Amino acid sequence: MPNNIIQKEYVRQGLLKMHKLWLTLLPVAAVSLVYMYFLVLNDRPDIEVPEAEACQRLLSNLTQPQKAELGRCCNASAWLAVTQDNTPLGSEIVYDAYPSKRLKVSSGLLEILPEKSPFQESPYKTCAVVGNGGILRNSSCGSKIDGHEFVIRFNLPSVDFPEDVGKKSSIVTVNPSILHKRFHGLNGRRLPFVKAAASYGKTWFLIPAFSYPSNSEASYRALYALQDSASQSHIFFFHPQYLSSLSKYWHDHGFHTPRLSSGFMLVNAALELCQHITLYGFWPFSLHPDGHSLPHHYYDNVLPNSRIHIMPKEFTYYVDMHFHGVLQLHLGRC
Ligand SMILES: *[C@@H]1O[C@H](CO)[C@@H](O)[C@H](O)[C@H]1NC(C)=O
Ligand SMILES: *[C@@H]1O[C@H](CO)[C@@H](O)[C@H](O)[C@H]1NC(C)=O
Ligand SMILES: *[C@@H]1O[C@H](CO)[C@@H](O)[C@H](O)[C@H]1NC(C)=O
Repeated sequence: MPNNIIQKEYVRQGLLKMHKLWLTLLPVAAVSLVYMYFLVLNDRPDIEVPEAEACQRLLSNLTQPQKAELGRCCNASAWLAVTQDNTPLGSEIVYDAYPSKRLKVSSGLLEILPEKSPFQESPYKTCAVVGNGGILRNSSCGSKIDGHEFVIRFNLPSVDFPEDVGKKSSIVTVNPSILHKRFHGLNGRRLPFVKAAASYGKTWFLIPAFSYPSNSEASYRALYALQDSASQSHIFFFHPQYLSSLSKYWHDHGFHTPRLSSGFMLVNAALELCQHITLYGFWPFSLHPDGHSLPHHYYDNVLPNSRIHIMPKEFTYYVDMHFHGVLQLHLGRC
């Protein structure tokens, strides 16, 4: 293989070995990522064609089993959301973050579930998975993001920077903690939530309503609020069985973490649901690859107060997938 591929592979292997050291070696990691970033972006077109093809074959051989494995383990098109199809009356929903707690499926619950999976139309040709990283600020990536058939966003993000992040939203995840923090768990007035939801246009909201038992009620109230306001958008609940299968899959593949982030969950779902995936706004470091400092999110600089997710570690997997041609990690401006 040509030199620059070997160089990249060398950097990649180095990064993977660094997994365990990520948390203590963040600055070093950031520097090597910057180096790698330049290798990615300054890809010199000096690869001779037969070698490039050989490399491509090698890379594509590595991606196929993974998609098939994910299909077998997790099956996002059928299981990502709770539906009447996959959750019959009388069956039990097992909370994925609290497996000792189960919920018997009642006719009342069935009534608010969709009949069939909303993802049956997959695969989508092109998907943009849009993280909330500060690297998106001033990126001018908005129109490029909106050009994808399917756009996934996280945690009711700000819609204030359309030039940088676009407007289109096919899926927006909602962490129940946001329902509690920003909308008082919808215990009082519902209009603020309804208005916030309307700012995404017609979209599908995905809520992990059955991860922790304490989150189910607020999630139902969010769904009622949209239904009662005749919103065009729909709320779906993550199927806890999908989340626990996915978590087990990664655990069996050596990725041990208290809980996968919703970014990581949906990148994995996208691997099954999309033909071509581009990640934007995934860059868990406080320095831009070109050296200037970045806010934590593209819309604010509020740091997370929980240490439950290990974003830099998840990021190494995205880098790995990028080098295996499974998805494209977009860094920098458009
Ligand atoms: C890739 O897979 C094909 C078909 O499964 C196989 O014939 C080929 O040898 C593999 N190539 C490499 C480089 O492993
Ligand atoms: C996913 O589940 C659906 C419905 O049960 C099934 O038809 C389909 O074959 C499954 N896909 C995979 C990859 O197992
Ligand atoms: C974005 O651009 C504005 C105007 O040029 C500048 O003030 C701001 O610091 C930039 N922000 C980031 C995160 O690059």
